[in-house]
Amino acid sequence: MKKYGIIFGKNHELSLLELKAFSRRFRLGVRILEEHSGPPNASYAIIKAKEDIERYFRFIGGSIKLVRIIGEGFETIRSLEYARLFTISMYGRDDWRLWRRLGSMVKKVFKEKDPAKFFKPAKVYAMPSELILKGFPETKDIVFFFRNGEVLVGETIRITNPFELKKLDVERPIVRPTISIPPRLARIMVNLSEVRRGNVLDPFCGTGTIVMELLLQGLVAYGSDISEERIKDTRKNVEWLRREFKVKHSASLRVCDVRKLKKCFRTRFDAIITEPYMGKALKVKPTRREAVKIARELDRLYYQAFESFGDVLKRNAKVVFVFPAFNLAEGGIYRRNRPWLDELGFEVIASVLDRDDKHKIVREVYIIAKR
Ligand SMILES: C[S@@+](CC[C@H](N)C(=O)[O-])C[C@H]1O[C@@H](n2cnc3c(N)ncnc32)[C@H](O)[C@@H]1O
Repeated sequence: MKKYGIIFGKNHELSLLELKAFSRRFRLGVRILEEHSGPPNASYAIIKAKEDIERYFRFIGGSIKLVRIIGEGFETIRSLEYARLFTISMYGRDDWRLWRRLGSMVKKVFKEKDPAKFFKPAKVYAMPSELILKGFPETKDIVFFFRNGEVLVGETIRITNPFELKKLDVERPIVRPTISIPPRLARIMVNLSEVRRGNVLDPFCGTGTIVMELLLQGLVAYGSDISEERIKDTRKNVEWLRREFKVKHSASLRVCDVRKLKKCFRTRFDAIITEPYMGKALKVKPTRREAVKIARELDRLYYQAFESFGDVLKRNAKVVFVFPAFNLAEGGIYRRNRPWLDELGFEVIASVLDRDDKHKIVREVYIIAKR
């Protein structure tokens, strides 16, 4: 077991849930020693984990950096490995004067060996995109975690590549931002399902974001949608993915109403991961009454969808499902309880809101298990 720092992305709560599922999924033995809330992209946890986490980190969606902890206290700087170009990331303090002092201290140590320079990121911590553009991993990111008077020193050893996610999002042939889920969230959802191998279905596959992520992760991918057009879209995107990302396998795709999965598939699935139809786009934020009405109508489809999931899922299989919640005109959020899940033989394991004040409909990601 080794000690690491892990920097969470925008949604701390969702990232933490993903990290725990990710640990079980790849048997990484993650133990969370401390957890610190900060601004978006600057919350972090100090963890112990098997070294395998370094190899699997590229499969994580909601965290942005993996930092190897080198030691405690400023003296640790002396044991850092030399780099010609580096930057400093500070978590738990927002103080440019301190940032500059730390940069100079590290530079002085490095210069005993050879010339060294450091560069300034936009904030007191560097984002993965800044690091990649400056030549990470040759260019180093020296990290300081400040917590109650003590400091932990480490070095970033892995980052999630925002350019790869961007490419998946905007360079694929069929892009429909209004109905598509962000690739980063698709990646998080695959981890939440905890499937390591096996058959996985997205029964509302749309343009295929989740299906593409399943293929990237080497899972046996199935996708279906009620619309023939969307299945064509998914097919085009999957072909592009196979060329651009050198993915060997393809996906099994069907036109199928979610209510009739049993008729469309012989397979029994290890997981269902999906973002369903979430109603018509709203022009303005709904009132509570309107939200209740929309949600109730959608629930009719979701009820039938889960009935159908019951027919094609293996026992104890997981469903990772996005339910809509509503930002209300009068302020606050409308989230719905769904006691019928229990009646249909499903158990809610966890749910996290992907809060976003700009949108009228917000995502609530659920992890649900079939009993
Ligand atoms: C929000 S989109 C899914 C987006 C997808 N996650 C993506 O990133 O492209 C919802 C999809 O559900 C499909 N749909 C609506 N009603 C359906 C039904 N009864 N059965 C299956 N698919 C349905 C729509 O055609 C649409 O493509």
